[in-house]
Amino acid sequence: MKNVNVVLGLFYGDEGKGKIIDYLSKSSDYAVRFSGGNNAGHTIKVDGQKFAFHLLPSGILNENIKAVLGNGVVIDPKVLCEEIESLKTCGFSVSNLYISDKAHLILPYHIVMDGILEESRGENKIGTTKRGIGPAYCDKFERSGIRMENFISDDFDKLLKRNLDNKNKIIEAYGYEPLDYDSILEEYKALASMLKEYVCDTTSMMHKAIKNDERILCEGAQATLLDIDFGSYPFVTSSNPTIGGVSTGCGIGSRYINNVYGVIKAYSSRVGEGPFVTEEFGETGDMIRELGHEYGTTTGRPRRCGWLDLVALNYAVMVNGVTALAINHLDTVSKMDKIKLCTAYKYKGMVIDTFSSNLEFLENCEPIYEEFEGNFGNISGFDNFDDLPDNAKKYINRIEEVTDTPVKFIGTGADRDDIIVRDDKTLKLVR
Ligand code: GDP
Ligand code: IMO
Ligand code: MG
Repeated sequence: MKNVNVVLGLFYGDEGKGKIIDYLSKSSDYAVRFSGGNNAGHTIKVDGQKFAFHLLPSGILNENIKAVLGNGVVIDPKVLCEEIESLKTCGFSVSNLYISDKAHLILPYHIVMDGILEESRGENKIGTTKRGIGPAYCDKFERSGIRMENFISDDFDKLLKRNLDNKNKIIEAYGYEPLDYDSILEEYKALASMLKEYVCDTTSMMHKAIKNDERILCEGAQATLLDIDFGSYPFVTSSNPTIGGVSTGCGIGSRYINNVYGVIKAYSSRVGEGPFVTEEFGETGDMIRELGHEYGTTTGRPRRCGWLDLVALNYAVMVNGVTALAINHLDTVSKMDKIKLCTAYKYKGMVIDTFSSNLEFLENCEPIYEEFEGNFGNISGFDNFDDLPDNAKKYINRIEEVTDTPVKFIGTGADRDDIIVRDDKTLKLVR
């Protein structure tokens, strides 16, 4: 009955969700994306070969899985077709792909609007990925969005005309060239005919799967502190990458959800603007970035780096009802002399261990750190927690203690096999 597991990012994204999803999808029948779009970039390394997924569920690398794009995802048809083609070129089949008829489209005017809106924000820009995500979700909620079911029907021509006429007025008002209806229509009709075979009612498909006792893995994109409601608004994305997004983004009720795996790194990173209490500037930040290869999978931007923040982590655990943690990049911090863990904030002279996403609060907090010994040595290839060096275990144990949440997965390198999976029976804390 409870055959649905969920993988979510707990900080500002790029925690290594792709790798954990890849591992869990080996024991799943479905891998389902439920929110966001191609602002995501999920990396999986297989024997040194790197796969970066922006729209397709990362679970698709496992042959027997059915890969689903749920209704909560916003789909750029051009990017999706490119991703399908490149996967086919690598010898993978995509005949097991299913796209919700209710998923909304990202069209060229959304991408142009994303750029215009960022420019108009000036110094207060969000640092979006400029993939049209915000404008596409705006249209969805304003009720003028175009869904996959419209895209593959004859309705598309007139809906595109209506929307493009409206958007062109705005685009021209900002001094840009209007977009051309005929050329977009021609190009997107061709894309629609390529995607048509994959479109179906994925909600009823999920329900049938649940009744048949099949195992579903819901694949989070983005992360809790980028959530439109729970993140550092307005420096967030335009969807709910938190647990509620599973229900609204693929139509699965909470009673079917078993484990909620929250993914973090052994340090933190953020790409784009907005507060980041434990950010390290200068040498330490640069060292984390270089050791962890922290450059964006989607935009190539250098990621801002800092220490792990347990105040924020406790908030993310609560918001999502996380049952176990996955901590990636233990190998990265193992190369540092000292590692810091933020366990409280100093705010206006007070010591605070409760997170608030309020901007004024976050901008005026200073982290209070506990320090740990690093230099664990080379831990790649370890597959048993007990065999890890004592300093590595101390670090993990402290995270479990402060968050009262078991650490089930530990990443020891970028390759798909560089992972320690702890047996539930050996975990001290089981939720
Ligand atoms: P996602 O968006 O959460 O899927 O994460 P990204 O793929 O954007 O970024 C995570 C990066 O860390 C990728 O380059 C991964 O290959 C890499 N990675 C994941 N886990 C580990 C790990 O345990 N150790 C190291 N060194 N790299 C990792
Ligand atoms: P994955 O799934 C990291 C950030 C952008 C920007 C903000 C809003 O790979 O973890 P948007 O284009 O969504 O309107 O940008 O959100 N952002 C991400 N940062 N990882 C992601 O996805 C992100 N998706 C969006 O950098 O700050
Ligand atoms: Mg990423």
